[in-house]
Amino acid sequence: MALSWDDEPAAAPAPAATAEASAADVAKRVNADDKRIINAKTDVNQLVPFKYKWAWDKYLAGCANHWMPQEVNMQRDIELWKNPNGLTEDERRIVKRNLGFFVTADSLAANNIVLGTYRHITAPECRQYLLRQAFEEAIHTHAYQYIVESLGLDEKEIFNAYNEIPSIRDKDQFLIPFIEVINDPTFHTGTLENDQKLLRSIIVFACLMEGLFFYVGFTQILALGRQNKMTGAAEQYQYILRDESMHCNFGIDLINTIKMENPQLWTPAFRDEIKELFLKAVDLEYRYAEDTMPRGVLGLNAAMFKGYLRFIANRRAVQIGLDPLFPNEENPFPWMSEMIDLKKERNFFETRVTEYQTGGALNWD
Ligand SMILES: [Fe+2]
Ligand SMILES: [Fe+2]
Repeated sequence: MALSWDDEPAAAPAPAATAEASAADVAKRVNADDKRIINAKTDVNQLVPFKYKWAWDKYLAGCANHWMPQEVNMQRDIELWKNPNGLTEDERRIVKRNLGFFVTADSLAANNIVLGTYRHITAPECRQYLLRQAFEEAIHTHAYQYIVESLGLDEKEIFNAYNEIPSIRDKDQFLIPFIEVINDPTFHTGTLENDQKLLRSIIVFACLMEGLFFYVGFTQILALGRQNKMTGAAEQYQYILRDESMHCNFGIDLINTIKMENPQLWTPAFRDEIKELFLKAVDLEYRYAEDTMPRGVLGLNAAMFKGYLRFIANRRAVQIGLDPLFPNEENPFPWMSEMIDLKKERNFFETRVTEYQTGGALNWD
């Protein structure tokens, strides 16, 4: 039967008892004090009321520093790369090894966040940052792909380096078990053992992957940029370094807050295990430095990185409440700390935002 528009409207449904929430519903509203980074009972769909303001602030800072790879002009890099006398063989090796590590590293990072960490974090403001971080990891993979494509490198060689180049493969093989454990769909937090597995995974990811395994590569490409070589790639690496520095700092805040809320996880045995992982990671990254720099290049050599990696490892250890692993190490690359030093982070951002708006390039002087 066709509808007739002349029909009398059906009786309106009875209005809800009240437009206001019942007292029982109000009692169920999220109380910021009840929020927890892991194993919270509070509703993860309600961003506010905030409890972890640091996470929200990092989300806002990440958004303020948005950038896209294709905004960076690669023409000078392309000319230099194609010029047979443009770069030495050792410099070319550095570029190819770097891309070989990073083209897959940021996909590992993104997958770890989306399929692993995100699910186990029950504070919505931390999830909000992780969503931003996941997109930044996609931008980083895009940036590395854009460099590979611009330079006309052999994609199969570069994207398979993490299977084929031992110094890269060993780093990834070290990381993958810590990623897989929390990505396993049957894995859930809520026991001492599993909460420690999650905390261990976050420490490995933030302090050792983003906080240590990226630093030989970043230093090398930024050193090229400082010599006015591969400046487009170096500009992109500088933006990536700034993002990664924030990822690492977010991870450290996450770790320290989980520790504070769950002090039972931080046992002497657990701390010893973390120290062993730090030592192993320093060793792997040092071997990567040796492989990428069989000789001195760009004023750098592998031996200098031994000191640098120990210096960074100390800093990460102290940041999560462990004693320095290698007392009295000094930073052999003070110019790097200018780019990543927390105290200068804000100035660095402000510079970037201005340049982003005017489309200007970074200055390497
Ligand atoms: Fe990244
Ligand atoms: Fe990252």
